[in-house]
Amino acid sequence: MKTYFFALATLALGMNLQAEELFSPDNQIKLNVDLDNQGRPFYELSYKGKEVIKRSGLGLECKENISLMNGFSISNISKTSFDETWAPVWGEVKEIRNNYNEIELSLTQKKEKRDIVLRFRVYNDGIGFRYEFPEQKNLNYFVIKAERTQFAMNGDHKAFWLPGDYDTQEYSTMISKLSEIRGLMSSAITENSSQTPFSETGVQTALQMKSDDGLYINIHEAALINYSCMSLDLDDKNMIFESHLTPDVQGNMAYMQTPCNTPWRTVMVSDDAREMLSSKLILNLNDPCAYDNTEWIKPIKYVGVWWEMITNKASWAYCDLPAVKIGETKFDMLTSNGRHAANNENVRRYIDFAATHGFDAVLVEGWNVGWEDWFGKSKDYVFDFVTPYPDFDIKGLNEYAKSKGVKLMMHHETSASVRNYERHLDNAFKLMVEHGYNSVKTGYVGNIIPRGEYHYGQWMVNHYQYVLEKAAEHKIMINAHEAVRPTGLCRTYPNLIGNESARGTEYESFGGNNPDHTTILPFTRLMGGPMDYTPGIFEQNLSKVSPDNKSWVNTTIARQLALYVTMYSPLQMAADIIENYERFPDMFQFIKDVPVDWQDTKILEAEPGDYITIARKDKNSENWFVGCTVDENGYNSTISFNFLTPGKKYEATIYSDGKNAHYRNNPQDYQIKKIKINSKSKYTQKCAPGGGYAISIIEL
Ligand code: NOJ
Ligand code: CA
Repeated sequence: MKTYFFALATLALGMNLQAEELFSPDNQIKLNVDLDNQGRPFYELSYKGKEVIKRSGLGLECKENISLMNGFSISNISKTSFDETWAPVWGEVKEIRNNYNEIELSLTQKKEKRDIVLRFRVYNDGIGFRYEFPEQKNLNYFVIKAERTQFAMNGDHKAFWLPGDYDTQEYSTMISKLSEIRGLMSSAITENSSQTPFSETGVQTALQMKSDDGLYINIHEAALINYSCMSLDLDDKNMIFESHLTPDVQGNMAYMQTPCNTPWRTVMVSDDAREMLSSKLILNLNDPCAYDNTEWIKPIKYVGVWWEMITNKASWAYCDLPAVKIGETKFDMLTSNGRHAANNENVRRYIDFAATHGFDAVLVEGWNVGWEDWFGKSKDYVFDFVTPYPDFDIKGLNEYAKSKGVKLMMHHETSASVRNYERHLDNAFKLMVEHGYNSVKTGYVGNIIPRGEYHYGQWMVNHYQYVLEKAAEHKIMINAHEAVRPTGLCRTYPNLIGNESARGTEYESFGGNNPDHTTILPFTRLMGGPMDYTPGIFEQNLSKVSPDNKSWVNTTIARQLALYVTMYSPLQMAADIIENYERFPDMFQFIKDVPVDWQDTKILEAEPGDYITIARKDKNSENWFVGCTVDENGYNSTISFNFLTPGKKYEATIYSDGKNAHYRNNPQDYQIKKIKINSKSKYTQKCAPGGGYAISIIEL
């Protein structure tokens, strides 16, 4: 009799409480959450009445027979709303509105006496949700074997995808239907032969998709802290993605101790591609700034002793070891032959150039002992990050830079010997402070040491975080290359001023990037935060820079200017060698003028894989800058200047492709013209295949 009453009570509770719905503040997005009759949580998402995520399962499997998959009932529900405007330390806009409706579902496994919380936030442009694990007796330490968060698609969408990989994002983006991923995986791999995708249908986030009925859907994560990075595995019969975490050397996904939580899983949706690019959902899901004082954090425009090594004109190393092959080119980067670029004379030349043209900093790579055998050797004790080569006078050069109002940017290539980097980190940062460096580019090329760990596992996620917070103690900004893809952490830790985590301009020297690459990255990699893409390459024929280099930079010269606007970053490099800027002083003027911090941003035109046109307003003036990047087909861009202040007059300087420009055979055909405009003006510009344009707009 007792049992009977209990069952009835559960049923009644179930009928009342086991399905919930929540709308976005503008009511366009609807979230449903429910428990099935096994007590497994599910969610479902629609936008303007169209299904975005079909009913999808949630849950985690853990070691030692802890299953957080089912057997749950809802013990409490609380709904709240939030609306706040905050100011980022740096950004695309000076103020960000964080407005969502939230549902907190407390779930209990009665038998095991375990509680978890599912928290969903519904914004006008998507949702974020995460698992939270309160402190409790029966769930203290636990190890995650698999997170089983599903994202069931409502069709065979077009996807912009990279093979799922635990160690790199430096792939060319594949564009295909979801059903075609399996068939294309091997060609995606062949092109990047050194990489190792984890499955035939695994892809990375941020994954951008487009449905047949015109919805743009993006899946990523936010606030990746003390957890492993998520990729997605596709069940391509049913079009269901499931979260796929990065394992550690033992095959475990994450080590947890309550109270704790997973990162946010995000789904953004809109029927306008431009809204994907203006979304601040991922930043909003991160915590507010963790630092009281942020005055030391400043956007940076820089040049560097860099492209000459990337193109193989010069070497990182001071002395000799045999050459290695990357793509078609044999790189002598370990072999100096007297070509060591980070020498006093060359660095001074870059400092002078930076000072003359108003750059903040000069990156110098190859300044320190260790480059002789840093690559491919899995060497544990590799760099010590404090011993300069004999031809790099660290004190004198920093003093010289200071006298010219310029800073040197430090470089810490770790060669992925991470335990070695942590061994030396304190001294490395002290040396920086002693000489006046305030930023460092870090790098993680190669297989991680401790051996068997992956770039995107929890162990490495914690390392990047450790370096970031340690750097903050020394007022140092970090630009991490090869690190885990960003998830909006720069809101909380704004000294994370840059990240690579994708195929950057360097690949233009290792075989080339697809001409549509920069029309895709803002929809994928940049969703989580800025990228140090290192634009500004004026000479496309790299054999002119370095005779043995067979690569071609797949862009027109005008498009390179546009990237300073379209590839948002508070850290922008003018990456080419000085000699190439001196050949095109009129085009270089735009790079000198373009700011790296903004008060406002308008996405004017956007279609992933085809074109992106963006206007941004300087943080500190009334000036606007426009950039447009297009794919291999070219594009007629039509924009309106209605973002300008009515009644004011402006002069626009337009740096565009010339009539006969083409990224392959005529990339240096360009035009510069000045016109007068106001907020009622409209403008049409023909962009060449692989081309684009940039405009600087000065208030008169
Ligand atoms: C790869 C980085 O992306 C590149 O910028 C750097 O120059 C090399 N590693 C060497 O550290
Ligand atoms: Ca890289």
